[in-house]
Amino acid sequence: MTLELSLNQQPAHVRQGSSIGQPLIRRDGFLKVTGAARYAADNHPPGMLYAVLAVSSIARGRVAWLDVEAAKAHGGVVEVMTPENRPPLATDPDAKNNPFMFRLDLLQNDRIRYPNQTIAVVIAETLEAATEGAALLSPRYEAQSPRVGLDGAESFVPGGVGIGSPAVHHKGDVEAGLKSAATRIEATYQTPAQYHNAMEPHAIVAAWNGDSLSIDTPSQGLAMAQGRIAGLFGIAPQDIHIRSPFLGGGFGSKGMISGPQVLGILAARLVGRPVKLVLRREQMFGPVGHRAPTRQTLRIGMDGEGQLTAIDHHAKTATSTFDDFFEPAADASHTLYASPAIATSHEAVRLDTGTPLFMRAPGEATGSIALESAIDEAATACGMDPLEFRLRNYAEVEPMTGKPFSSKALRECYAQASERFGWQRRPLKPRQMRDKDGFLTGWGIGTATFPAIMFQAEARAVLRADGSGLMETGAQDMGQGAWTAFAQIAADGLGLDIDQVDFRAGSSDLPNAGIAGGSGHTATAGMAIHNAGAAVITRLAALATSHEASQLFGADNEGVLARGGRLHRRDDESRSESYGEILARAGLAEIDGRGTGTPDPASREAYAMHAHGAVFAEVKVDPDFGQIRVTRLVGAFAAGRVINPRLVRSQYYGGMIWGVSFALHEEAVTDRRSGRIQNANLAEYHIPVNADVPSVEALLVHEDDPYVNALGIKGVGEIGITGTAGAVANAVWHATGVRPRRFPIRIEDLLG
Ligand code: MOS
Repeated sequence: MTLELSLNQQPAHVRQGSSIGQPLIRRDGFLKVTGAARYAADNHPPGMLYAVLAVSSIARGRVAWLDVEAAKAHGGVVEVMTPENRPPLATDPDAKNNPFMFRLDLLQNDRIRYPNQTIAVVIAETLEAATEGAALLSPRYEAQSPRVGLDGAESFVPGGVGIGSPAVHHKGDVEAGLKSAATRIEATYQTPAQYHNAMEPHAIVAAWNGDSLSIDTPSQGLAMAQGRIAGLFGIAPQDIHIRSPFLGGGFGSKGMISGPQVLGILAARLVGRPVKLVLRREQMFGPVGHRAPTRQTLRIGMDGEGQLTAIDHHAKTATSTFDDFFEPAADASHTLYASPAIATSHEAVRLDTGTPLFMRAPGEATGSIALESAIDEAATACGMDPLEFRLRNYAEVEPMTGKPFSSKALRECYAQASERFGWQRRPLKPRQMRDKDGFLTGWGIGTATFPAIMFQAEARAVLRADGSGLMETGAQDMGQGAWTAFAQIAADGLGLDIDQVDFRAGSSDLPNAGIAGGSGHTATAGMAIHNAGAAVITRLAALATSHEASQLFGADNEGVLARGGRLHRRDDESRSESYGEILARAGLAEIDGRGTGTPDPASREAYAMHAHGAVFAEVKVDPDFGQIRVTRLVGAFAAGRVINPRLVRSQYYGGMIWGVSFALHEEAVTDRRSGRIQNANLAEYHIPVNADVPSVEALLVHEDDPYVNALGIKGVGEIGITGTAGAVANAVWHATGVRPRRFPIRIEDLLG
């Protein structure tokens, strides 16, 4: 196939630098380890009051009575906000105009739609007084029986899943493919509800000044948050100033502004003073999103050679009674394995829970755990090594669209990780390996995949007469290292050393950097930064090449390169001028340029774009007690250009550890009678601690992808989860001979 591709905004000149690719330490690391990094809740504007949420202890019904008088009479309490006195809003919080607009509970009435929903806000001079005031409200409820669990309500086919992909989709004839198969498997897998639970709970410090609003709050999408708040309060977005320099994690739950954050703003409006509101840990289990539970059935057919003839992937999931987010779990089968027939379908129920939301690798994480387990079952049914089976069936083109994609990169990931892991020594049959202590040992693999998404972003670059540079974009750092990676891209984009670049981000007053989500932030805002650099260098070059006194006079734009704070002639690099000299001659203190980062529709039409990886896991299982430990993880990932290998490895480690968590630890347990979450705390909502994750390796597989964007950046944030959970489950099977089909895997599942 020959294609005419317009690569994204190819710069009109070459800039050379050495920052991209360096394993630099975090620029904000010192601030963080010394406690000087200011998170939202660290702010204390003068006159600030504390707001505490009172939340529902039932899942469904209405608030019949609140002892507002008792709370108001408590020393230090200034005001109690209820539906009676909540300031008016310009937009109905139950309105929904697009899939990114989620319905919010903002005390619009007395109805309760999920546990931990806000029923009142107590505002006081101290946190203690507000907390005590909230306890004095002693709510009485009219409770109805909650709808709980994937069989707890009538199911339906959603209008779309994820952000609008079809709920039902197919190519080829799956039933015919299954019928003609020499071997078939069918299996059902269950994944639980999980809650994002960032270290930093949602928090806000809000201060009104007339109709202008100043906010400190963690946000993965500053401009989107600004727009949502503007709509709710009927004020102009530019009158809302959000500072969000650091996030203590987000994972999707800080992508959209949440109800409690808006309640903080409402509380500040009600009392006419700045207000701080921080969620308590248990209040994170409800109003700020979660990963929906799924039950997925896979039917897979293979011919006599172990070649797939059909994949049918059906997922049942749950959403809230009042809003729509449908975990696109079955769509995981769209992108990995070649089969002449593939069908995916979704159904859903409405439950009395908070609305589920994007949570790290939404769809891919839940879907790939089922798909990778089922592929392993299929390999076993064919008597084949699971790696060999995957290599035989891995797609050379994207299965559903036929578009070319980077299958070579995935093969390289398999090769490098299996070599490093020592996979060739693996016995085919389960229960063959024991360690010196008698623990059953098993090895498993999982394929990792995540789309290389781009959103929209803008950046502004400045070069100053003193030779330094400035790059501004309202980017968000959830902890992934954006402060460092973007500064590296900025330095190369400006042809400067990184120490000469002032990088500003984390504020809604800066150019819109899009969202830190979908693993697309580095590519999107990175391209905006790169292009802003190109724009300002182009203007600077024009000043030089058009001036007779310049060393560069007469060289056209393509004839100039920027490096080390100087412009050089490409045909004679000894002829150069510093940025400062050029600006001084022009009588300018500084010069600026703007750039955007945006996906290129032509290349996206022509190519499928995904990051790829392969994860190999070793587990040890106590033969008597069924206790499982992951003892080794080796992942290899190809995700385009690596801006900073230290940060990228750290993202993969985080993703892989989350994969272990998915396989063995994490689950929100709902009480069937009350509908309440029984383990709404970090003691009983299990996550892996250091002792659960002894050895993790992430290999960075080199990949030049010229199609995703001019810098060749894909994303690394989410892919690590997608291969690991399946790899752990498959290793558990290899150790024990028992096929895990319910996650997290429990000891009792392994005891026969
Ligand atoms: Mo996210 S679900 O933090 O991209």
